[in-house]
Amino acid sequence: MVNVQKFIDQAIQQIRQAAGDDRVVMALSGGVDSSVCAALADRAIGKNLMPIYVDTGLMRKGETERIRTLFGDLNLRIVDAADEFFTVLEGITDPEEKRKAIGEKFIRIFEREAKRTGATKLLQGTIYPDRIESEGGIKSHHNVGGMPLHMEFAAVIEPLADLYKDEVREVAAGLNLPVEIQHRMPFPGPGLAVRVVGEVTREKIEIVREANAIVEEYLVEEFRPWQCFAALIGQGTGVKGDVRLHGWIVAIRAVHSRDGMTADPLLLPYEVLGSMASRITAEIPGVARVVYDVTPKPPATIEYE
Ligand code: XMP
Repeated sequence: MVNVQKFIDQAIQQIRQAAGDDRVVMALSGGVDSSVCAALADRAIGKNLMPIYVDTGLMRKGETERIRTLFGDLNLRIVDAADEFFTVLEGITDPEEKRKAIGEKFIRIFEREAKRTGATKLLQGTIYPDRIESEGGIKSHHNVGGMPLHMEFAAVIEPLADLYKDEVREVAAGLNLPVEIQHRMPFPGPGLAVRVVGEVTREKIEIVREANAIVEEYLVEEFRPWQCFAALIGQGTGVKGDVRLHGWIVAIRAVHSRDGMTADPLLLPYEVLGSMASRITAEIPGVARVVYDVTPKPPATIEYE
């Protein structure tokens, strides 16, 4: 981007003009796009910004607390919706059905909460590649989490609509957002649910959340992958103490990629892999084994579902 400061000034003007004196609602996920949007809108319209963070129960470790610390000064609504999500996911094993159920639930909760704010306008962190996808019919426009909103808004404000991801990261730096947000890895809308193969339960999500935090601790700073995470892919036998158990199998995935369309696994040192395996099996009671996924995309996808 040529001039970050100029972009920031113009975006603030644009939001101010589009919002007028009205309240503006947005879904804040903690990713770089929505965080940049919130920071710009905070400067533009202050108390008329109504960000909503839906805690689906499927978020990474510490995510809700991070959001509270960062954006707690805004009119932030934190919606604890974990029960609703776990209920709706009961018994679903098909990956597409799982994604649909989560998207649908998210959108209904967002609509319900958006109505409560009295906002008449919507702010979205849509970036340029999202628009291309949407024009190609992959994603529907004016959506939050992949599903169309049933609500009518007087205006939809998209200040990042002409930017690529790396430019959004530059703006994040220009706004002095924490480095951790500037460099945030992509995280799928359905959250940890697509990192549990088969039916999602609270227990499995807890395991994958803990394992994921360990993987991030080892790999994010030192190896700077496009994405790294843990997934719970099945069960196998193990022995812990003197007890034989039918435990969980955790897969570690760490890939380089340019745009997520193709990806290659990182060639990680064996000591690092071994050390992660030891920590994950020692610290997470039900886990019996850890494997490293060496499959590129294609033929595998980056996520497991
Ligand atoms: P796959 O698994 O298809 O993922 O190779 C490619 C990239 O997209 C991310 N991903 C998502 N991002 N909503 C998102 O915003 C989603 O539903 C979603 N599913 C996958 C994935 O993390 C990877 O970076």
